[in-house]
Amino acid sequence: MPVTPHTLLSWKRQRRPLTALTAWDCLWAKVLDQAGVDILLVGDSLAMTALGHETTLPLTLEAMIHHGAAVTRGAERALVVCDLPFLSYQLSAEQALESAGRLLKEAGVQAVKLEGGYPRLVGTVERLVETGIPVMGHVGLTPQSVHQLGYRQQGQTAAGAEGIYQQALALAEAGVFALVLEHIPPELAQKITQALSVPTIGIGAGPHCDGQVLVTADLLGFSPKPPPFAPVYADVPALITQAAQKFCQEVRGGTFPAPS
Ligand code: KIV
Repeated sequence: MPVTPHTLLSWKRQRRPLTALTAWDCLWAKVLDQAGVDILLVGDSLAMTALGHETTLPLTLEAMIHHGAAVTRGAERALVVCDLPFLSYQLSAEQALESAGRLLKEAGVQAVKLEGGYPRLVGTVERLVETGIPVMGHVGLTPQSVHQLGYRQQGQTAAGAEGIYQQALALAEAGVFALVLEHIPPELAQKITQALSVPTIGIGAGPHCDGQVLVTADLLGFSPKPPPFAPVYADVPALITQAAQKFCQEVRGGTFPAPS
């Protein structure tokens, strides 16, 4: 059965942990979908992991439509959520509606994610949700604000933690179906998770969230400097190197293709 925002809500009630990984094309989407990952996030981290940019900021809406469509073609069961890239939603609720609408119509993704929880953005979330577009929120460390926040853990002071807590409550009230909590203290993530009826999905936010998300390039050993909270589950570059070297050796040595 395909995963929907409604499924995620029921899993929160049942305390069934949610899993999410990022995907950027059809090939990876198929493998991750068949592995049973619940949510495929077309995260704008693909700007760095797949496209070689320094930050997520250069990514365009056109590029996200291209990647979102490829991921959608590879996913059968997982819910596909696509990031709204930097400056495709911050100007106005109308701009956000137009951008999110294009992701749903042209890429076929089922939901969008946006970063932040300041009051004007909460109004934008309300507008998207009342239009029928499922929205995932994202608070704590928000990489589109890297030039303001860096990549440091957020919510370390009492005031900072309270600010993130209030943003989480406001986003839930505005109708997000799930909320990513990135790089915040575990106690704060626990407090937010207990306060919300919608699921929280942590990344570097400790064990008390309703689910966990990781960037697939980090998980598979592709990131030269993965964040401290991102374990490497497999050294995939080593496997690829081995296979590619074997191919080169066999072609150069005349053993592939086999002589007929
Ligand atoms: O872009 C991304 O990969 C993300 C995750 C870090 C949640 O937003």
